Amino acid sequence: SWTSSAVIDEAVESIRKQVGKERVLCALSGGVDSAVAALLVHRAVGDQLTCVFVDTGCMRAGEREQVVETFSNHLHIPLIAVDASERFLNRLDGVVDPEQKRKLIGEEFIRVFEEQATKLAEEQGPIPYLVQGTLYPDVIESTSHDTASTATKIKTHHNVGGLPEKMSFKLVEPLRMLFKDEVREIGQELGLPEEWVWRHPFPGPGLAIRVIGAVDKLKLDILRAADKIVIDEIKRAGVYRDLGQAFAVLTPIQSVGVMGDGRTYAYVVAVRAVTTSDFMTADWARLSPELLARISNRLVNEIAEVNRVVYDITSKPPATIEWE
Ligand code: XMP
Repeated sequence: SWTSSAVIDEAVESIRKQVGKERVLCALSGGVDSAVAALLVHRAVGDQLTCVFVDTGCMRAGEREQVVETFSNHLHIPLIAVDASERFLNRLDGVVDPEQKRKLIGEEFIRVFEEQATKLAEEQGPIPYLVQGTLYPDVIESTSHDTASTATKIKTHHNVGGLPEKMSFKLVEPLRMLFKDEVREIGQELGLPEEWVWRHPFPGPGLAIRVIGAVDKLKLDILRAADKIVIDEIKRAGVYRDLGQAFAVLTPIQSVGVMGDGRTYAYVVAVRAVTTSDFMTADWARLSPELLARISNRLVNEIAEVNRVVYDITSKPPATIEWE
């Protein structure tokens, strides 16, 4: 029978066997998979592990601070947090096509990661191993060719933590045999904060594919503020865990509104919340009208650049979960 402590013991032993006295690198994304993978490796080989977190400038509010607080300060795992926002924003300048955004962010991520890895190797010696938070369903998917798995590839998925191509790492994949719910359970057991354990998935390209059209710092800041309000209210209403994903989308549409004596002309924010079992199909979540009202009021009251809120009532298919 499945017990998390037995799974942890087994993983720890097999990591030790694989890695020996060598050094290991892990790209943290802010998500639960890479975090749990890193925790397992740290339990197995301690400070032979170094984690790298790359702030792409397209992360949610407080993301980098939270990674530093949890991994460095709380769990005492060696961590390099790189603020590379400017580089990413420069590359994204004027780019509208979603696939192009994914490609640029994926490339830049690998560059930044490689630079960090090279620097670290120069300072402290070779790092032959790289941790990947690959789950069992990913393993299955990459070896099967049914229509379901093709469907996920309609959008190229650049996961933060993707394998750098030029560098030849040997992979450590401690989650290869696990499903998501098992990963959460292990995470809890290893001391990952509750909030992190239950976090919704967040795409590698981050907010860049939730700012529709061209991305800039101002739009990312608006969306970061909107995203925080949506998530805070959903958590306050106690429905966060019932949802597969929930987020705000900054549309490029500006609409007319009225505020006091004046006319406003400001952005339309879309709110997206879905229920799903596997992210291959999804239904729009029947959030209560009261919750939607609170979200809408806060968005327009607290964000000057927003004067209208719409709720996305499309299922997947035919829509996708993300807007880009
Ligand atoms: P869609 O929008 O295709 O999304 O219904 C399905 C799931 O995949 C996530 N997603 C991504 N994840 N890189 C990622 O790491 C990407 O480029 C990407 N695009 C979509 C999406 O958030 C949802 O969970």
